[in-house]
Amino acid sequence: MKFSSKMDKLGSAIFAELKARKDALTARGISPIDLSVGSPDRPPAPHILQALKEEVADPGNYVYAISDLPELLEAVKGWYKVRFGVELDPAAEITSLIGSQDGLAHISLTIVDPGDVVLVPDPGYPIFSAGPAIAGAELVKMPMLEENGFLIDFDSIDPADAKRAKFMIVSYPNNPVTALATDEFYRDLIDFAKKYDIVVLHDNAYCELVFDGYRVGSFLSYPGAMDVGVEFNSLSKTYNMAGCRIGFAIGNREVIKNLKIMKSNIDYGIFLPIQKAGIAALTGPQDTVRETALAYQNRRDVLINGLNEIGWPIEKPRATMFVWAKIPEKFDSSMNFVLQLIENTGVLVTPGISFGDRGEGFVRMALVQNEDLMREAIDRIDASGILR
Ligand SMILES: Cc1ncc(COP(=O)(O)O)c(C=O)c1O
Repeated sequence: MKFSSKMDKLGSAIFAELKARKDALTARGISPIDLSVGSPDRPPAPHILQALKEEVADPGNYVYAISDLPELLEAVKGWYKVRFGVELDPAAEITSLIGSQDGLAHISLTIVDPGDVVLVPDPGYPIFSAGPAIAGAELVKMPMLEENGFLIDFDSIDPADAKRAKFMIVSYPNNPVTALATDEFYRDLIDFAKKYDIVVLHDNAYCELVFDGYRVGSFLSYPGAMDVGVEFNSLSKTYNMAGCRIGFAIGNREVIKNLKIMKSNIDYGIFLPIQKAGIAALTGPQDTVRETALAYQNRRDVLINGLNEIGWPIEKPRATMFVWAKIPEKFDSSMNFVLQLIENTGVLVTPGISFGDRGEGFVRMALVQNEDLMREAIDRIDASGILR
């Protein structure tokens, strides 16, 4: 058999490797504490579950959905208006996605031809690079450096690359580095995109997981954003619906039109009960959204206070469901540290290198275990002596 050369560009999944290590621990009678995958462990709100239950029981809901329910698009329009003050034309400026991952994977096929340049963040969430790579793009990395507050420095992008770039991917609050962006950053981003005629894809998956009283907005609320790009958003983290697979691309109508055409050739829309659960989430009571953010904030405090006390200095993130931490100095690579951590403590975290070269020297911990397990992880790390 001969497979596409595209397959060489896709990283072998780190989570599959970590899962194998986790299974090996279990086989040895050690209970793992998994802080590697960012899969929400909290349930959706009761009214969302109720909507899903009722709609699943309706035999009429098993046809191909084909397109988005108008009520779903209206619900997104209403949510963006109330939450961000952004006015949208639902028919032309919103499309649903089978999770934002679906959109991030397929949108490249609508914008790039093989050999075109795409600007991607380093470190970055893996599909940001995998999507353009599948489409045959040449990836140019935009370093996100600690000394710049992990913000992309537009002045450091080679104008020759910028002139060739078809689109760029930007995402704050950021996975994995957890940074937030400033108003000035978004204005500079839009100026840069206009100057070089680059489409902007902004991923806002963590807009509701923001702590300590901070609030973040939408890329689309900045003047000129709708001219240059789209925002991806998702119900996965905001409403704990990750397994339901529902998200949205919102913004520039040309970009949305092309994405809809591409997707209509690939899938037949989202299962109707999930669309209806999405409507329930977006239009129903919103109190669980803040409760979810608070739960992550409390876990963050337990984990970071504890790790600081046992000699691992880490700053508290202001957003996302992750902690981005420098590895102890005695380790020469994030992968080595992660493997030793698993071996000595049963605690699983993700090596920074799996997010790109600029992730080396860091690990990402997902706040997806309860506070008691966070405390146990700290005790195990302390007892193992790995930090000393
Ligand atoms: C930055 C970012 N974008 C997108 C996704 C995918 O979300 P969805 O479940 O909507 O596909 C994730 C999931 O972890 C993410 O961290």
